[in-house]
Amino acid sequence: MWTRRAFLGSLGAAGALALADSVSKARAAIALPEAPPVSGGVLREFELLAAEHKGGVIGKAAKDAGFWLYNNELFPIVRVKRGDTVRAHLKNRLSEHTSIHWHGIRVPNRMDGVQYVTQPPVKPGEDFTYEFTPPDTGTFFFHSHCNGVSQIGRGLAGILLVEGDEPKTFDDEYVLALKDWRLAENGAFLPFYTEEGAGRAGSFGTVRTVNGQESFAQTVPAGKDIRVRVLNLDPTRMIDLGVEGADAFVIATDGNPIEPFPLHTWRMGAAMRVDLQIRTPEAGKSFTVRDYFSSKPWALANFTAQGGGAPSSDFVPRPLYAPHIPKPDLADAERITFRFSAAAGAAASIDTGIPADNPLAKELMDSLCTGQRGFWAINKAQWPTGGHQKLPPPLALLQDGRTYIFELMNGTPHPHPIHLHGHTFEVVSASRQDLPRFLADTVVVQPKERIEIAFVAAKGDWMFHCHILEHQENGMMGWLRVA
Ligand code: C2O
Ligand code: CU
Repeated sequence: MWTRRAFLGSLGAAGALALADSVSKARAAIALPEAPPVSGGVLREFELLAAEHKGGVIGKAAKDAGFWLYNNELFPIVRVKRGDTVRAHLKNRLSEHTSIHWHGIRVPNRMDGVQYVTQPPVKPGEDFTYEFTPPDTGTFFFHSHCNGVSQIGRGLAGILLVEGDEPKTFDDEYVLALKDWRLAENGAFLPFYTEEGAGRAGSFGTVRTVNGQESFAQTVPAGKDIRVRVLNLDPTRMIDLGVEGADAFVIATDGNPIEPFPLHTWRMGAAMRVDLQIRTPEAGKSFTVRDYFSSKPWALANFTAQGGGAPSSDFVPRPLYAPHIPKPDLADAERITFRFSAAAGAAASIDTGIPADNPLAKELMDSLCTGQRGFWAINKAQWPTGGHQKLPPPLALLQDGRTYIFELMNGTPHPHPIHLHGHTFEVVSASRQDLPRFLADTVVVQPKERIEIAFVAAKGDWMFHCHILEHQENGMMGWLRVA
């Protein structure tokens, strides 16, 4: 396996040191410029129609596979500028209830899109309006927060880009949205949930795509600095992102600007994003964005350079504007430990005793946002099976404005991408990965690993869960109250 760690290992201690040294030099040499104050924000009003899509979406899928999309489009991209106000009208034309969670965006709590926690579920035929002014620039996405295993499994997600972070505009920009699909040979969807998957690393897709294409190819201008925004929208797969055939800097993690450092590989669990600055090669040459997670690297996207452009300068990092995340006060932080584990006893599955053709059975199923099995737990507590409307007690009570250091301990044999709603945290330390300090809303905790994250708590009831959706919906989810 050619993971980042294995790669460092194969260089030997000296190589690893040299790399660490060059990373710290790059980090020491560049400070992020301050963004100018925002002015002239406008209202960006649009509709998000959630409905079954009639027609093929990706190559192999039969027309009637049953994709669920926003606005009949796979991963529609909404672009706004920092300072703009988003007003999104969700129209639910699905056969079950839904809601929209704005992943990674520090929204007011009531706009967070978690049914029974921050809003009532949006029933079939109903509408709901989300309105907020994103405080941060970056690469974000939005998705359903109910029955995500199947709703997101069918495609119900979109991309929100908040612009205004580039001191100097890049020569070009591309978005790569990664998602696998659980499709059978005949093009119909396979079950999204499996017992084997939910109890282990998750159920993997059978068809891997980027922007809905099985072999994504793109021409780019030669000898330029381009920005590539990569989103892992798969509910299961971890990737080790790397670029072959071109040099790249990491310039943002989960949308948050970072002092640029050279990309070797960057591990991305479900829901994670990374922004790259890539120097494109000379005309006629290509480069490939790859996933190095498994021993057989996988080509995600192929780029071919075109045109007569020759690089006008050396490849130097172009830092984005400094982020606006409240700075944690580490000296005066409260520490809370969260242990992620297998559940002690599997929770009983729900048997309503109601025959399936009884309309009440349908209604009961509609109220379910979670799976039927409690495989996983956080601090020994599992989210109750059978729906969001039965809220467990909060995992912790926090104080508005106070700094917290969460210690995340993974006691399972599987990595978990752990996500906190409503906040952007700093990853302060990781015991089993070589990571710079960076800002994130989701962090991969390796088996037996201990990770520390720090953030300033903001008022509200916020979900805290693994973003492998079969883990989330089968116990590994909780919530925090910040008052
Ligand atoms: Cu993107 Cu509660 O998650
Ligand atoms: Cu998990």
